[in-house]
Amino acid sequence: MSLHRIAVLPGDGIGPEVMEEAHKVLAAVSEKFEFEVSQETFLIGGAALDATDNITALPEATLKGCEEADAILFGSVGGPKWEHLPPDIQPERGALLPMRKHFGLFANLRPGVCHPNLIDASPVKNELIANGFNVLCVRELTGGIYFGEPKERKVIEGEEVAIDTMVYRRSEIKRIAHVAFKAAQGRDKRLCSVDKANVLQNSVLWREVVIEVAKEYPEVTLSHLYVDNAAMQLIRHAPDFDVIVTGNLFGDILSDEMAMISGSLGLLPSASLGEPDPEGHTFGLYEPSGGSAPDIAGQGIANPIAQILSLAMLLRYSLEEDEAASAIESAVEQAIGDGIRTGDIFSAKEGERKVNTSEMGAAIVERL
Ligand code: IPM
Ligand code: MN
Repeated sequence: MSLHRIAVLPGDGIGPEVMEEAHKVLAAVSEKFEFEVSQETFLIGGAALDATDNITALPEATLKGCEEADAILFGSVGGPKWEHLPPDIQPERGALLPMRKHFGLFANLRPGVCHPNLIDASPVKNELIANGFNVLCVRELTGGIYFGEPKERKVIEGEEVAIDTMVYRRSEIKRIAHVAFKAAQGRDKRLCSVDKANVLQNSVLWREVVIEVAKEYPEVTLSHLYVDNAAMQLIRHAPDFDVIVTGNLFGDILSDEMAMISGSLGLLPSASLGEPDPEGHTFGLYEPSGGSAPDIAGQGIANPIAQILSLAMLLRYSLEEDEAASAIESAVEQAIGDGIRTGDIFSAKEGERKVNTSEMGAAIVERL
């Protein structure tokens, strides 16, 4: 029986509530598919700031615990309680960005899936997405304008100036392109690379490198869109897309747009992956695409599906427990198909049953 180790970081807001449901699901699949998972829980985000007297959102012990694990299951961080703190120590910038950098998590996979049964939850007109859609956004996560140097404020010629620098190295573009082409190969074999090559030097290089990498994937059809156009095309007809690959900033924006049009943030997982080690194991951080949702935290009504599907991604990409991952995904499909709905996806149609967080978790476990 294989033994896996995961670091669990519930964080803030609805994080701990939805994490509890992921635990139930993990317990059920590990029994069913006969593998063992040791889990250790660590503080992150606002919870860590509270525990350290506002010193850090990412304590040493958390980092160390994560280093010793095979993967990280992450809840969510942040909330109004910590917004008065200096931006650099706030949960988002003080925990999430340093984690990505520290573990070299350069590949961010964000599926934007609109289930055919849930098209009413999408703000897009039903007739445009009658069969739902399934788009995968592959976002470069440790480069670009988020991390480029210099990054500073200073006074130039007597005036205050803020500077962020957008840098992409050929090697960074190449490795994210490979991730995206491989993902497309396993799906509908269509990859759209999004850039702003009519303005940015970064994007000119981006496009060149993506075109070069494409030669290694002749079965994948590659297209290119400028980011402004991509934002429009996604709203106009998301089913046209299969896999999107783009840089850090554009991916941040487009993945939120995709999440919005797919209906509920509470449904979408994400994976942030590093480079595979010499034995082929991939370390990753897995988290819901939605945030900590402080407005509904503590009420037991949040949708745990995004956290549960993040667990499925963790099982697939880092623990290589594919069967368990697929079982979770089909159990979620079934629960949705059977009309089980948390408030965010409830539309009071016939056949729907409104449930709370733990009832949704239980409904999924029942269907495993
Ligand atoms: C995300 C978030 C983060 C980002 C913030 C919180 C730093 O918006 O994961 O998309 O911009 O990457
Ligand atoms: Mn974002």
